[in-house]
Amino acid sequence: MTAETLHPGVVGDVELSLNGKHVKLPVYKGTESECGIDISQLHSKTSYVTLDPGLGNTGSCTSAITHIDGDQGILRHRGIPIEVLAEKSSFLETSHLLIYGKLPTRDELDSFAREISQHYGLPKRAKAIFDGFEEDAHPMAIMASKVVALSTYYPDCLQVDVKNSRLHIVRLIAKFITIAAHIYRKSKQKAFIDADPALGYVENFMRMMFADEAGKYVADPVIVRALDMIFTLHADHGQNCSTSTVRMTGSSQANIYAAIAAGICALWGPWHGGANQAVIEMLETIQQDGGDVRKFIQHVKDRKSGVRLMGFGHRIYKNFDPRAQILKKACDDVLGKLGVHDPCLDLAKKLEKVALEDEYFIERKLYPNVDFYSGIILRALGIPVNSFTVIFAIGRLPGWIAHWKEMLETPGLKIYRPRQIYVGPTLSRYIPIKDRT
Ligand SMILES: CC(C)(COP(=O)(O)OP(=O)(O)OC[C@H]1O[C@@H](n2cnc3c(N)ncnc32)[C@H](O)[C@@H]1OP(=O)(O)O)[C@@H](O)C(=O)NCCC(=O)NCCS
Repeated sequence: MTAETLHPGVVGDVELSLNGKHVKLPVYKGTESECGIDISQLHSKTSYVTLDPGLGNTGSCTSAITHIDGDQGILRHRGIPIEVLAEKSSFLETSHLLIYGKLPTRDELDSFAREISQHYGLPKRAKAIFDGFEEDAHPMAIMASKVVALSTYYPDCLQVDVKNSRLHIVRLIAKFITIAAHIYRKSKQKAFIDADPALGYVENFMRMMFADEAGKYVADPVIVRALDMIFTLHADHGQNCSTSTVRMTGSSQANIYAAIAAGICALWGPWHGGANQAVIEMLETIQQDGGDVRKFIQHVKDRKSGVRLMGFGHRIYKNFDPRAQILKKACDDVLGKLGVHDPCLDLAKKLEKVALEDEYFIERKLYPNVDFYSGIILRALGIPVNSFTVIFAIGRLPGWIAHWKEMLETPGLKIYRPRQIYVGPTLSRYIPIKDRT
């Protein structure tokens, strides 16, 4: 590694000519080979803004949390490859890595886990909020409502103080799984089960979800390990839609619960975290239609159909999503160990093969993403389909927190406020209502 790659910063400038004016803009280089033109002075120097719908070419911040190389299929958190974390780390350890910037020592990890274990419970009145929802209410709507409601029980969060945010952070990590499990039990009209602080994070979650009325649940280590790995694989992914939403909301100094609730809402959409649910629904539809994979691919390619191959394509990965490769292998392992045969897995593999050999997908560099296989494992673990995105949210929480924290620790932080190019009517006359036709 050269000194330049170790020390990110300005490495030169580019000259831009606009209407006869010449402006120099700094070129910023990160620790990997990514470079960006710093256009923060462009408007003040030239009155021009940049136009980048979907923000696909915009670096909204510098970040030391996650590196993604979409062409090579690389994903690393704080420098550590996702493949290594999935195999050797745990979800709580990876959460510590993301949020606090380093792999914890044994003592640090133990106290992180212990602090979390003290905060699983929900305030009594927060529990009552569940009664306001219908049994079939979408879990993500309840999740977002419950998380923003937490701010009302801990009003010191309104004075945003990132240096003293540890308590809010461990509370959120703990209460997320309690809320998720309560949402599930409410949908089944079953009594809530309180957490057992003596159990590990994932075991606790499974018990709060699936224990009988007496609280009995024997965790299958295969399930616990698989779910822990799924959480780990989802833990962060750079400036994606929900993480950018968390940063944007937090940049106004809104409290951490509000910022995370905003992230949950952004994750809900089928083009983002909702895709894992959409994949299973798609596979079931294909199956009900006779399982003709090629017919479905033709349907996707017919642009008038408006149908997408869910679980395929990614804004950043123009190669394999490394998480999808880990999950594809895990699908075989987990279903094998659990003795589950899911015809959707066979269908997914066929669909992947046909799509990867098809010009439409090759040309557009569309590969399976993290959602393509995760739903099949989640279903085998007994997680209901409409809770899949909640699982994604639990996994993504440490990433959201890490970005919220990193943003607030950035010197000279500004509120997020993109510009636009206005294309509506120019100055127009107000016509009184009686004169309008
Ligand atoms: C993830 C996603 C939103 C990324 O979108 P994007 O980077 O903005 O890509 P675009 O929407 O510009 O797509 C580029 C081209 O590929 C096509 N395309 C992208 N994803 C596709 C998919 N899953 N199925 C079929 N066609 C797809 C688009 O129609 C477009 O075609 P065109 O150039 O002929 O107009 C998109 O790939 C998608 O909707 N995937 C399915 C949902 C999903 O799995 N989301 C989870 C992401 S982790």
